[in-house]
Amino acid sequence: MILLTGITGNIGGATARALLAQGVRFRALVRDLTKATAWAEQGVELVQGDFDDAESIRRALAGIDRALLVLPNGETQERLELSFIRTAKEAGLPWIIKLSSPEAVRGTTSPIPLAHIAAEDAIMASGMKWTFVRPSFYMQNFRGSVKAARATGKLSMPMGKGTIAVTDNNDAGLFIAHVLTDADQTRHHGQCYDITGPDPVMTFHDVAKVIGELIGQPVVYDDCDPKAFQEAIRPFHLNQWHSDAVATLFAEIASGRTPGHKTDTFQKIMGRPGRSLRDYLKTLA
Ligand SMILES: NC(=O)c1ccc[n+]([C@@H]2O[C@H](COP(=O)([O-])OP(=O)(O)OC[C@H]3O[C@@H](n4cnc5c(N)ncnc54)[C@H](OP(=O)(O)O)[C@@H]3O)[C@@H](O)[C@H]2O)c1
Repeated sequence: MILLTGITGNIGGATARALLAQGVRFRALVRDLTKATAWAEQGVELVQGDFDDAESIRRALAGIDRALLVLPNGETQERLELSFIRTAKEAGLPWIIKLSSPEAVRGTTSPIPLAHIAAEDAIMASGMKWTFVRPSFYMQNFRGSVKAARATGKLSMPMGKGTIAVTDNNDAGLFIAHVLTDADQTRHHGQCYDITGPDPVMTFHDVAKVIGELIGQPVVYDDCDPKAFQEAIRPFHLNQWHSDAVATLFAEIASGRTPGHKTDTFQKIMGRPGRSLRDYLKTLA
C-alpha cells in the first residue's frame, strides 16, 4: 500500500491524479480533511495528520510499504522531514521516496537546498530503501509571467546570467507515480533522479523569447533589482525566513553557482519526453 503526503499541493496532487488515473489505490496523510474531500470522493483513503505529530505519522504508515515524502519550503522543513524519516524508520517502512531538488548540492549556502541535503543524508543513513526525485525549476514558477509580459513587454526576475532547466509539475507527479507502481521496483532503489523536461538549459533571455513568440509581441528579459523583486513576491511567501531563503536561492542561480542541468532521466524512465516549456506556456498565452 502506498502513502502519499502533500496531495493538497503541487507535486503530491499531481502524483495522486496520476495514481488515480492508473486505478491505483493509495492512502494520503492530510492536515485538513475538508481540503481533501474531492480526493475522498474519488476513493482516496485519508488519514488526518501533521508532520509535527509523530503519532499521526505512525497511524498513516500502518501497513504501508512505500511512502512519498513532500513538504513545502519553510524554516520547519528540515526538522519535520527528519522527524518523518525517524518515525518511518522506527515503524519499519521498507521504501521512502523523497521529493527533493537538484539544487541540493554540497557547497550551497541556501537554506532550502541545505534542508534537502540534511533529509537525503538521513534517509541514506536510515537503512530504508530510498529514491530521490529532484525536478528542476518548475515551469509553474512562470505562471504569472505571461500576463505580466503582455502588460510590460518584460520578464522581470533577478536571475542575472543564471541558467535553468525546467520541469512541468504534472510530469514530476507522473514520474513519481510511475516509480511507485513500476513492476520492477528494485531498479529504483538507491536512485537519485534529477528530472527535467526536453528543453535545453536556458537563460532568462531564452525564456523571455519563448514568451514573446507565444504572445506575438517582443518580450525582453529585465534583470531586475533583487530587493525590489523580493518585496514584489513577498505576499506569496510564508514569512520573512521563506522570503530570504528564496532570495538566497535565486542569488545562487543568478551567480551561476547552481547552473541548471538537463537530463534524459525522464525520457529514459517514462519512455517519452516530458512537456516542453513552450507547451506549458501556451496554456497561459
Ligand atoms: N519550486 C521549484 O521550482 C522546485 C523545484 C524542485 C523541487 N522543489 C521542492 O518542492 C517542494 C514543494 O513541493 P510542492 O510545490 O508540491 O509543495 P506545495 O504545493 O506547497 O504543497 C505542500 C504540501 O505539503 C503539505 N504540508 C505542509 N505542511 C505540512 C505538515 N506540517 N504536515 C503535513 N503536510 C504538510 C501541504 O498541505 P496543506 O494543504 O495542509 O498546506 C501541501 O499538501 C519543496 O521541498 C521544494 O524545495 C521546488
